[in-house]
Amino acid sequence: MADYARNRMFFASSTTLMLMVAAYMSFSLFWHEPVPMAWRLPLTVLVFLVSQTITGMRVLITWRPDLPFLLVRAGGFISSSFMVLSWFVLLRDVLLALVFAASLIIPDMTQVKEGIFSALLSLPAEWTMLAASLAAAAAGMARALAVPSVKKVDVPLQGLPQDLDGLTIAHLSDLHIGSTFTREWLEEVVRRTNALEPDFTLITGDLVDGKPERIGNFLSPITKLRARYDVVISAGNHDYYSGLRPWVETWRRWGMTVLLNEHREYLVRGRNVVIAAVTDPCAVLFRNLEGSMGAPDVRQALEGAGEGLRILMSHRPGNAEQNAAHGCHLQLSGHTHGGQFFFLFPLVSRLNGGFRSGLYRAGSMPLYVSPGTGMWGYVPMRLGVGAEITLLTLRRAEPSVPQKPSYRGKLGAWQ
Ligand SMILES: [Fe+2]
Repeated sequence: MADYARNRMFFASSTTLMLMVAAYMSFSLFWHEPVPMAWRLPLTVLVFLVSQTITGMRVLITWRPDLPFLLVRAGGFISSSFMVLSWFVLLRDVLLALVFAASLIIPDMTQVKEGIFSALLSLPAEWTMLAASLAAAAAGMARALAVPSVKKVDVPLQGLPQDLDGLTIAHLSDLHIGSTFTREWLEEVVRRTNALEPDFTLITGDLVDGKPERIGNFLSPITKLRARYDVVISAGNHDYYSGLRPWVETWRRWGMTVLLNEHREYLVRGRNVVIAAVTDPCAVLFRNLEGSMGAPDVRQALEGAGEGLRILMSHRPGNAEQNAAHGCHLQLSGHTHGGQFFFLFPLVSRLNGGFRSGLYRAGSMPLYVSPGTGMWGYVPMRLGVGAEITLLTLRRAEPSVPQKPSYRGKLGAWQ
């Protein structure tokens, strides 16, 4: 419940934040010479409306998950452009503040200061910022919609039996099929993933944005995924928004393994490997879902599991340290989309327990956070972080490596 409350708080605070950004941008962009007085109020209203695109899209897609692709992409392009423009405006104003401060210290700078102010506050400068924002959003959108390449990551695990050294996991997350990507895009993702010949393929949530009757056809290539032992799906918040129960029935009818606060055990090279998955905190929103589809519960997910390597799938990374304390040896997560834009990285990390993208240590356990194989349709843009199909290879860590159970942070090489 606490997690969902945080989620609601996030959207309430993000809406408020965007209103504040709109107020700042309007003041900075329009309420000065040489912007004509007659333009100022209409442009301010426009900026306030545009600032609420994400909230508006979220409300629309929660109530109507079947929104047309084109509408979602158009809304995404508008919100992406707005975010980049706000970044340019901030940069310009920081520069103006620095010039102003310098002119107070150096009296001879007065004329230079006035020249810089009139150039940066001119209409051509503002049109240039707008054009650059649209171009950056378009480039970021092209990157976001491309088929991701494969990223290979070695995951060091202390105590990993020698037999399991080299075990491979293809990790996919946040494909968001239905709002952004085409069937052809998914077919290529499946082809590239199968080419890796993994032992397991694990999909850590947000697989769909839409109901089975509308997007089942787009998603069906997912059934072509192949792995030596199994292909497993766990749930993310968008899977709940899209109607999890019919989706779980569909995936199971397609012969796929779906884990909701439960686990499955596999005999791999003579060793027991436990794949467990928790649900998403937003499950508490959906009162008609109960039992195994309820709130995330790692204890329930591992109940009755035998000794062996325990790998946990959890859409959100934030609880990784608690999950490690429950005896998990490795956690795979997504949800963050890697922050999507470089200027949002600190915020996204903060909202996700300090985890944004890549390999971390959470307590004594490695955690891999996928930046997403696909992405959310509201803001289909990536700047500074790409999407990926991840191939994780488990490696037995050297016994000489010291354990630092209390250490928490980015894990590059195994210390
Ligand atoms: Fe997602």
